[in-house]
Amino acid sequence: MRLSCSVLTAVLAMTTFTAAQTPAPAAAPKAKPSAAAAHTVKSVAKPILAATPPMGWNSWNFFAGKVTDQDIRNAADQMVATGMKDAGYVYINIDDTWEGDRDASGVLHTNSKFPDMKALADYVHSKGLKLGIYSGPGTHTCAHYAASLDHEAQDANLYASWGIDYLKYDLCSFRTDVMAAKAPDDKAEQMKLMIAAYDKMGKALAASGRPIVYSLCQYGWDAPWEWAPALGGNLWRTTGDVQANWNSIYDIINQNAGLAKYAGPGHWNDPDMLEVGNGQTGRNGEVRLLTLPENRAHFSMWAMLAAPLLAGNDLPNMKPEIKAILTNKDVIAIDQDKLGKQGTRAYVDGEVEVWTRHLSGGATAVAVLNAGSDRTSNHPFHLDLAKAGLQGPMKGKDLWTGKDITLTQNMPVELASHDVLLVRVGK
Ligand code: GAL
Repeated sequence: MRLSCSVLTAVLAMTTFTAAQTPAPAAAPKAKPSAAAAHTVKSVAKPILAATPPMGWNSWNFFAGKVTDQDIRNAADQMVATGMKDAGYVYINIDDTWEGDRDASGVLHTNSKFPDMKALADYVHSKGLKLGIYSGPGTHTCAHYAASLDHEAQDANLYASWGIDYLKYDLCSFRTDVMAAKAPDDKAEQMKLMIAAYDKMGKALAASGRPIVYSLCQYGWDAPWEWAPALGGNLWRTTGDVQANWNSIYDIINQNAGLAKYAGPGHWNDPDMLEVGNGQTGRNGEVRLLTLPENRAHFSMWAMLAAPLLAGNDLPNMKPEIKAILTNKDVIAIDQDKLGKQGTRAYVDGEVEVWTRHLSGGATAVAVLNAGSDRTSNHPFHLDLAKAGLQGPMKGKDLWTGKDITLTQNMPVELASHDVLLVRVGK
């Protein structure tokens, strides 16, 4: 669905404003700058929030509604102890179910699981990490806790007073409270209402005076990649909720193919949080964990997609092989590449896909993903570099074995089911 004229005009006006805040390449001044020029230099030097995709951990995928203050403190401790902080993870994000009731002045209080949010923020900050929180534009969150409708500025100021650094804003009850109630059967009008609600919170966060990363969570409805950056959105979910099984992960990879042009420093497609290390309970109560190839492929493809890397596993009980995946610095470097160019799917050959991503300094990341069966482990896939827009031979590094590798035209690639070959070639 496209934006209507009036919304588009407003959105474009805001785009111009955002662009004016983006630092321009520095040029050596020849003469002493005038006062006005000095002022300009000062304002453009403001750092971009989320200049690379945000990295951290979020409570939902493992704890869901059970998360407590202690779990958040433990996650912060583990982030440091496991080396994840050193690998680049920064945000510790509390998802749904921290909210209590509003008092007579409309001020929102925490519930008994989170006795003192300011103290929690201070604790997380004392570890050199940042704290994220969750709300939504409706009356209620998805787990039926209080959300921000008609209290946007009050809530944004409250978050700032606590020292919150990141807000995930989830559509949830706004769909029924406002969209369906005010504009039944009118999808274009519903879209305008939704954009206005996200704009309202974007403005409230900006007015709070604290840099707070703004994460839109509305499941990719009405192409948020087209309008979210103009509202100050630093990331926007592109799909429904991820689940800890391969079909869900692969569906999401598929749904993000084609969105590369919308991502860049300060504004990212968000294919949802990581399920690395997680699993699901089957019908008979058995836990089916993602396999190691699946964990590797999931993490590799999120890096190719320049996705936010928000781990969602049980950090205090993380197995060494899962820690090794989440802290693979070469793979993280692909995700965090400062050019911010999201990878694209170069070609598909049956169940095998070849993706490429342009990196700073003229390097390239190449991912060969076996999305299906393990047929390529006994009938190797042959890599067609020309089809991928590359020219061999190309020397590089296999980012999962750490070994040198040379990519050549038609080279055989053996991959187990749901496994990946991830290579960095070039400078
Ligand atoms: C969903 C959201 C999830 C999680 C959950 C909490 O709408 O997509 O990531 O935040 O709500 O209730």
